[in-house]
Amino acid sequence: MYRWSSLSKSILGHPQRLLKECRRALHEVEKLDLVGDKYRQEFQKSIQNPEEYWGEISQNIIWTKPWTKVLDDANSPFTKWFPGGRLSLCYNALDRHVDEGRGNRDALIWDSPITGNKDTYSFLRLQKEVSSLAAILSGLGVQKGDRTLIYMPMIPQTVVAMLASARLGAPHSVVFGGFAAKELSTRIRHCQPKAILCASCGVEPSRTIEYKPIIDEALRLANAPDIPVVVYQRPDLAQSVLKPNDLNWDQELSKGQSHDCVEVDSDDPLYILYTSGTTGTPKGVQHPTGGHAVVNKWTMNALYGMSPDEVWWAASDFGWIVGHEYICYSPLLNGNTSIIYEGKPVGTPDAGQFFRVISEHNVSGLFTAPTALRAIKRVDHDILDGKQYDISSLKYLFVAGEHCDHDTRLWCAQNFKVPILDHWWQTETAHAITATCVGLGNGLYPPKDVTGLPVPGFNVKVLNESGEEAKAEELGRIVCKLPMPPGTFSTLYQAESKFEETYFTKYPGYYDTMDAGMQDEHGYVKVLARDDDVINVAGHRLSTSAIEEAIEEHEDVEEAVVIGVPDELKGQVPLALFIMRKDGHKTAKEISSEIVQMVRLSIGPVAAFKLSVAVTALPRTRSGKTARKSIADLAQGKHVKIPPTIEDALVYEPILEILRNIGFAKNASVEI
Ligand code: COA
Ligand code: AMP
Repeated sequence: MYRWSSLSKSILGHPQRLLKECRRALHEVEKLDLVGDKYRQEFQKSIQNPEEYWGEISQNIIWTKPWTKVLDDANSPFTKWFPGGRLSLCYNALDRHVDEGRGNRDALIWDSPITGNKDTYSFLRLQKEVSSLAAILSGLGVQKGDRTLIYMPMIPQTVVAMLASARLGAPHSVVFGGFAAKELSTRIRHCQPKAILCASCGVEPSRTIEYKPIIDEALRLANAPDIPVVVYQRPDLAQSVLKPNDLNWDQELSKGQSHDCVEVDSDDPLYILYTSGTTGTPKGVQHPTGGHAVVNKWTMNALYGMSPDEVWWAASDFGWIVGHEYICYSPLLNGNTSIIYEGKPVGTPDAGQFFRVISEHNVSGLFTAPTALRAIKRVDHDILDGKQYDISSLKYLFVAGEHCDHDTRLWCAQNFKVPILDHWWQTETAHAITATCVGLGNGLYPPKDVTGLPVPGFNVKVLNESGEEAKAEELGRIVCKLPMPPGTFSTLYQAESKFEETYFTKYPGYYDTMDAGMQDEHGYVKVLARDDDVINVAGHRLSTSAIEEAIEEHEDVEEAVVIGVPDELKGQVPLALFIMRKDGHKTAKEISSEIVQMVRLSIGPVAAFKLSVAVTALPRTRSGKTARKSIADLAQGKHVKIPPTIEDALVYEPILEILRNIGFAKNASVEI
């Protein structure tokens, strides 16, 4: 093993010697076995004997009725894990800790620099509030299997709402606050919640967003005005006007009612999370309770190296999968303290907040999106705001959600002084598909720019264009051989055939991740890009079709195509190319500014849609589909060979010209 013997203080003043020493150290590290025997054995067992592997791990959960079988794969891809078993997720995440004598330990720490507030919840306090809210929901008629919808900001009450639903066995659907009334109404119409839970407002740096009017509008659009809304009126901030069938959260909670945990079947849904796909209509990804409880608790140590009682911080938002899993469920299941951070990485009020929170709350593991780190790097490269804080409690920095560029990784390593571990996952999988499994002994310095090795249970393969297994380092579609491990989605809510068609038809026997990438000879996976029409804006997954649909509502727009273009901060942002109607009255400039507003109103500010340009024609395949990917490739500066299936290849030249004029497609070229 390499020793940092020469790293005496004297060397620190000699950058050239220091650099040489670091190179020597890296060379030594490269020679080490980075993978680790424990990981190898566990991974092999999870693939060769999944029943034994997950059967043993499932003992980490308290079942009210033990499962009769680990895996029922008779109806693949509708795989069932732990059939016959019954449990309460809420009990395992909350009451269990109280019953086992850990009630006084911290479950949640709320740190809100944007409002100047902080609060701490012990497991006992959290249990009381969750139990009480569950009683209120039960009073509204919410029963096992009924849906609730949660539209709330980064406050502890959001966890209370999620756990209260889980306590009743009522799957929740949390909707991100950056989505507008129309998107919200689509979800309401689809999941038909029995009750809605919201806060009076969310706070963004530029404004306070009142949530209740957005909900009222969404209920109107969904033609469901009678769904009751339980409103948490945020102290000292905007207060909502309640309608007759709405309830005031605090007033109801003060009645001190309680409700026991309701047990559910292992395969019963814990939640539905709507996410973007190829079409404009969001898909309701449904996650089952049993597999989810087992695996997500297990990941806290196996993937993230967290022991119970350590402080864990996932700097994301409840509305995304990371928020569901790693702000709420997984850390609580594992008995960790979870930080809820209401603020931005920069500007609330400064770029030192990530360092302050780590220092103040003794954070051991931080998980965030590369965008957040790029934002700090851009504003405070030399961490002038952050360096006053002692962050020695931090053991690891995990990143996911989008590609992490090499510069950002290096900058993080220098400034956070811990291993920076990229890992890859999706709403559908609810935990990482590839990672550096810290708790299973993976080396902490994986090769450059990989997202790690397959996590136990994921039999990852890369298939080339002919559908055969790609060679090492060959680019292809990343898929996972079935069965998928427990903890992954069981179906799409009320869309079983869409579930089969979308994910399991193109490559029979595999789950199609829709990501393109490659695997090296040791199995490390690199994820390069989405292969479908999803774009990733600041770690937020968005559908280009949904943005197109919103733009095409404009009366003077004949047709639009939306692509993701590179953005230094957000990774990608949407760009629309639109064709104006011949009989329209507005100028391109007027249309551009109006469609920005239309997308904000229809999808929400989170789409970060600001760029658009008029074109006279768009390339189309002979079957009539717009060739979106080839335009996106051009915008990214790639060489694009136009396939013979394109109707009128000549339209590419003017598009290339236009893209160049607005600062994209620098080194791009078209080959017809
Ligand atoms: N409720 C309402 N509006 C919201 C919102 C919320 N929860 N979150 C974001 N928005 C709004 C913002 O106010 C902004 O509106 P504006 O156009 O009026 O300014 C818009 O949506 C875009 O927001 P955002 O993507 O946050 O951009 P930003 O420029 O305000 O901030 C970053 C840039 C980098 C600080 C921010 O994108 C960030 O923190 N990213 C990390 C994201 C993350 O953690 N993703 C994890 C997903 S797994
Ligand atoms: P979501 O379902 O919102 O979590 O988004 C999932 C998508 O984000 C994946 O399909 C990838 O395209 C992308 N993604 C997630 N993690 C990574 C990563 N570590 N590197 C590159 N892309 C990622």
